[in-house]
Amino acid sequence: MSKPVAPRRASDRRPPRIIAVVNQKGGVGKTTTAVNLAASVAAAERQTLLLDLDPQGNASSGVGVSPRTVERSIYDALIGRATLREIMLPTELESLSLVPSKQDLVAVEVELVDDPQRPYKLRRLLAEMQERDPFEYVFIDCPPSLGILTVNALSAADAVLVPMQCEYYALEGLTALMATIDRVRNVNERLEVEGIVLTMFDPRNNLAHQVADEVKRHFRVFDSVIPRNVRLSEAPSHGKPALLYDVQSKGAQGYLSLAREVLANDARGSRDQRLAR
Ligand SMILES: Nc1ncnc2c1ncn2[C@@H]1O[C@H](COP(=O)(O)OP(=O)(O)OP(=O)(O)O)[C@@H](O)[C@H]1O
Ligand SMILES: [Mg+2]
Repeated sequence: MSKPVAPRRASDRRPPRIIAVVNQKGGVGKTTTAVNLAASVAAAERQTLLLDLDPQGNASSGVGVSPRTVERSIYDALIGRATLREIMLPTELESLSLVPSKQDLVAVEVELVDDPQRPYKLRRLLAEMQERDPFEYVFIDCPPSLGILTVNALSAADAVLVPMQCEYYALEGLTALMATIDRVRNVNERLEVEGIVLTMFDPRNNLAHQVADEVKRHFRVFDSVIPRNVRLSEAPSHGKPALLYDVQSKGAQGYLSLAREVLANDARGSRDQRLAR
């Protein structure tokens, strides 16, 4: 049996580490990474929040919360009608909570158009939450664009984690993303690149190896590689992270290994060393 965790005293608390999972390219594994990494960190008994910042609501359904049943979502918080605590939901994993999203989030861009504070809404909400809810990790699942939602995530985050599929055009996308990160550093100078994680990796594909080698020449890439694995694509239809669906699968094991790296990076505390090379 696992050892019970001692409750954290208020004096033990430090701010959560906020990691935005970002890539403006669609379908590269952002949501799969946000859900499974958050679940794996929570399984290591770290109080973890998964924040769904995509109107598609895939991260919400990935942990068993159908966007259709969500009453109040991150949209209500971003426009000032709710706090994160008010909209937060529990999940099947005791240490993992969800801030859900649904389709109404698409309206946020229009709602906030005249608000000069619009890039900082999420940052403000997370800072408020921190006063009462002792999360250790927050993972933000971003939509496939570099619009106002992703900018909110980047302004609020300590670090960016970039899932990448090893395809021919992947590097061009990374260059655009790094330029955006540099621009956001004007308002969030602590923002760093946690690393790039290779997703849906097929070791039999020569091009995948070539692209991986090229990316490693320019950026910090996690040692853990997420293989293409059918269990990872099946688990969301059961509303479960892969570790609750088939923990022995290569996909679930890949994300557990990635979580160990993320936790080790944080423990080392040498954050400045971890910038893109
Ligand atoms: N390692 C993997 N092996 C097999 N299938 C995967 C893997 N990672 C993701 N998938 C599948 O690929 C599809 C796209 O993944 P996902 O939704 O995580 O990407 P995304 O970047 O969040 O997409 P979007 O840009 O639309 O938000 C999904 O059907 C998902 O189940
Ligand atoms: Mg997604």
